[in-house]
Amino acid sequence: MTDIEIKKGLAGVTVDYTAVSKVNPETNSLLYRGYPVQELAATQPFEAVAYLLWYGELPTEDELAALVAEERANRTLDDNVRQAIDLIPLDAHPMDVIRTAVSLVGASDPAAYDNSRESDLVKSRRLFAKLPAMVAYDQRRRHGLGIVDPRDDLDYAQNFLWMTFGDVPDPVVACAFNVSMILYAEHSFNASTFTARVITSTMADLYSAVVGAIGALKGPLHGGANEAVMHIFDEIGTASNVGPWLDTALAEKRKIMGFGHRVYKRGDSRVPTMKVALDTLVEHYGARDLAALYDSLESEFVSRKGIYPNLDYPSGPSYNLMGFDTLTFTPIFVAARITGWTAHIVEQAASNALIRPLSAYNGPEERHINSYVPDTAAI
Ligand code: SDX
Repeated sequence: MTDIEIKKGLAGVTVDYTAVSKVNPETNSLLYRGYPVQELAATQPFEAVAYLLWYGELPTEDELAALVAEERANRTLDDNVRQAIDLIPLDAHPMDVIRTAVSLVGASDPAAYDNSRESDLVKSRRLFAKLPAMVAYDQRRRHGLGIVDPRDDLDYAQNFLWMTFGDVPDPVVACAFNVSMILYAEHSFNASTFTARVITSTMADLYSAVVGAIGALKGPLHGGANEAVMHIFDEIGTASNVGPWLDTALAEKRKIMGFGHRVYKRGDSRVPTMKVALDTLVEHYGARDLAALYDSLESEFVSRKGIYPNLDYPSGPSYNLMGFDTLTFTPIFVAARITGWTAHIVEQAASNALIRPLSAYNGPEERHINSYVPDTAAI
């Protein structure tokens, strides 16, 4: 067999350019359209970062006001989407609910197949505005609670929490949530974004690309890890049980969710910023035991395996303290990453390059039918 170098999982393979973000493991940094994500998280509302990802520049005051007005005017969950969500079993995974709801929005959009940049940006802004209501309603219905209508006097982060819990959030909570949405928004060619680009490269519509990306994000090796982190915390229980739990988990060769990364090998550039946000929530809620468990698992696992936390590790406990169901964590990731996904969809659509890699065949050598051929007419 000729020498063929297989790059499993496309690890280390650069397949295209992107101007949307730069992930740099050497400097352990992440830039959104050239801006360090830490600066954006410290100074911008999520709405402004969404604008930056789509348009390449931070918005002027008027541009931000226009995006905010459009987002606030489109926050309401459409009746057909709510009725469709109500048809889905309450014990269905929320990622399946969100995937279905987005698919219905797409199926109901007469401009779905207009792949022009302008039309795709309209769809992007629509999904950006609609996803919080879908996520919030699905959590509430699982608790037998009715829908909470959006409030247009609240910003994106405040309104997301308002629609979920029916209370105007404390500024500490709204700020931590805003930071998490900015950190989750974009991360170059991760599995779900690359899925969206592959689908877009066939000239399929934006909604199909987003539904595919939601499917990819659901997996615990990717976006589903933030949910899995909380399941691990529930398994361990207390900080004193971390050692024995890790002994067993590592003996069973389990992946410890929230740790490791395909690109970052000395720690995820976003973790310090999200950890500061988590610390403000620990202080606000007096969650000392959770903090002790978090610190103990991190220090124990890093010292044993030299594998560092990724963004999902501080995000999971943060969303838990905010009051979100564990099953809602990854749908929140969808609501943030819709901005990055759609920025990449627009970029890919402009490139007109079908994504179709090669494969190396290792099945049976060529052979021919020489045995009895059944007479299908006689079967
Ligand atoms: C996200 O790509 C992105 O940008 C993704 C993301 C984004 O913003 O879009 O950052 C979001 O998906 C973050 C990752 C969330 N996933 C998890 O937390 C799941 C747990 N992590 C692992 O499954 C793993 O670290 C991956 C999948 C994230 C990355 O794995 P790699 O780069 O393919 O590395 P690998 O699986 O080949 O691991 C190398 C070694 C292996 O040991 P050996 O088989 O060589 O002995 O390290 C071990 C792995 O078993 N290892 C782990 C581990 N991560 C790596 N062992 C236990 N627990 C882990 N978490």
